[in-house]
Amino acid sequence: MVGLLNRLRLVARALAGRLNPVAYRTLTRPCPSGAQIPGYILENVTIQHLGNGILSKKETTMPEIANVNGKICPIDEAVVPAEDRGYLFGDGVYEVLRCYNGRMWAFERHRQRFERSLKEIAVQNLDLDQLCHWVAETYERSRIPEATIYFHVTRGVAPRSHAWSEDIIPTFFMTVRPFVVRGEGNERGIKVISVLDQRWGRCDIKSLNLLPNVLAKQKARSQGAYEAILVDEKGGVREGTSSAVVCILQGTLCAPPNCSTLLPSITRQFVFEIADELKIPIQQRAFSLKDLYAADEAFIAGSGDEIMGITHADEKPIGTGKVGELTKKIYRQYRKRISKSQDQPMS
Ligand SMILES: Cc1ncc(COP(=O)(O)O)c(C=O)c1O
Repeated sequence: MVGLLNRLRLVARALAGRLNPVAYRTLTRPCPSGAQIPGYILENVTIQHLGNGILSKKETTMPEIANVNGKICPIDEAVVPAEDRGYLFGDGVYEVLRCYNGRMWAFERHRQRFERSLKEIAVQNLDLDQLCHWVAETYERSRIPEATIYFHVTRGVAPRSHAWSEDIIPTFFMTVRPFVVRGEGNERGIKVISVLDQRWGRCDIKSLNLLPNVLAKQKARSQGAYEAILVDEKGGVREGTSSAVVCILQGTLCAPPNCSTLLPSITRQFVFEIADELKIPIQQRAFSLKDLYAADEAFIAGSGDEIMGITHADEKPIGTGKVGELTKKIYRQYRKRISKSQDQPMS
């Protein structure tokens, strides 16, 4: 009875427009039987206002699912022990990738970066092939064509102690969710602010420790900007909180070289390849915030954001204050590569 009342309350809020359909869906509970995931059919109800008070209620099965150590379940039922070292110390590494039209994009590149991160933090007792099989299997089960996959491995579960024992078994956790469109940044561009980089000395490892990134991103959002650009004490540009930063200086595409102060971005690697095809000169070299302010064009690049032109940095217009022509060209080519890959075996 209480469950029914709660559900009625949620429907009423959704109808009143105070709750978006996605929120409604995630607040409702899965019900047993009849399955895309054996044992579950997730309730997935979209209520749309069609005008004149007409409402449409669409029910589909597009579950947001998780995988914990090989076991697939609805996201809100995924559980890991509280003494997991990922939870206690941020002792783990992760990857985020996009899926387009039912296919994982650039999985092999993510796998390679993930393998490197695992090695750098000395995670032991892990079967990476098995883990990649889980990623593919879980995505296949989700049947979400346009999705974001997140996965991480932590060192494992143990009583809290900084040092670990050699026989600790790592924890795998993964989610698959429908991709949420991030405004109109790809077409209209974005504003960014600069923030002093306060992260650790091994930003080339995709570690779970993201507190400085989280705080800087929130600062950007609170100032009406989309991304925060992390700069060193001398004003050198490193990268965004969850993206790479690239600028065009007098016709040359400039980006800082891969080193311990930034993540080797997979999207940025695609950008280099595309710029090469387009015969745009490339210089992997450090550039400063002043260079960024004076650039012809600039953009951020990342798996989730793809490519977004920077129109303003710290309220100063970059170039014309609109998305630059080379940025648009590179973005078009990037999308073309994704479309082409849909005809090819999964990579
Ligand atoms: C700090 C940081 N830099 C750059 C990127 C972009 O990397 P990728 O293009 O591989 O998504 C990310 C992505 O999450 C990131 O967190």
